[in-house]
Amino acid sequence: MPEMLPVEAVTREALCRSTELAERGLAFVWDVLQWQQPARAFALRFDGAVVAYVNRCSHVPTEMDWQPGEFLDMDKRWILCSIHGAMYEPADGRCVSGPCGRGRLTAIRVEEEGGQVYWYPSRDIRPLSPDDPAPRSL
Ligand code: FES
Repeated sequence: MPEMLPVEAVTREALCRSTELAERGLAFVWDVLQWQQPARAFALRFDGAVVAYVNRCSHVPTEMDWQPGEFLDMDKRWILCSIHGAMYEPADGRCVSGPCGRGRLTAIRVEEEGGQVYWYPSRDIRPLSPDDPAPRSL
């Protein structure tokens, strides 16, 4: 029987170069599998730190960017869902205004090292393999 690896042993995945994420700029969007279903995720830089979430609003499970990679509001203060205007705190993904109530975005662990950004797959969110179907925009 194969030995199960502890969660901490999961290897990180290279995501993008640090220079691709400007402060409060365009997000880096990539495909993942969440609960075995294709989904999109995004990473952006906010107050110097890289944060990442599944691109799925907690109000209605749909993608939130109003243009590809554009997640922040006009003032670049909140993550804004383009569908009904829910606003989320970029630092932790919790809903601060709108129909998302007490919801929050699903965070993805990221790390920045040596000019490279990495993300960590989890039990629920893993990389898309070449054999998996690509996510459809919701
Ligand atoms: S789907 Fe995001 S606010 Fe309704």
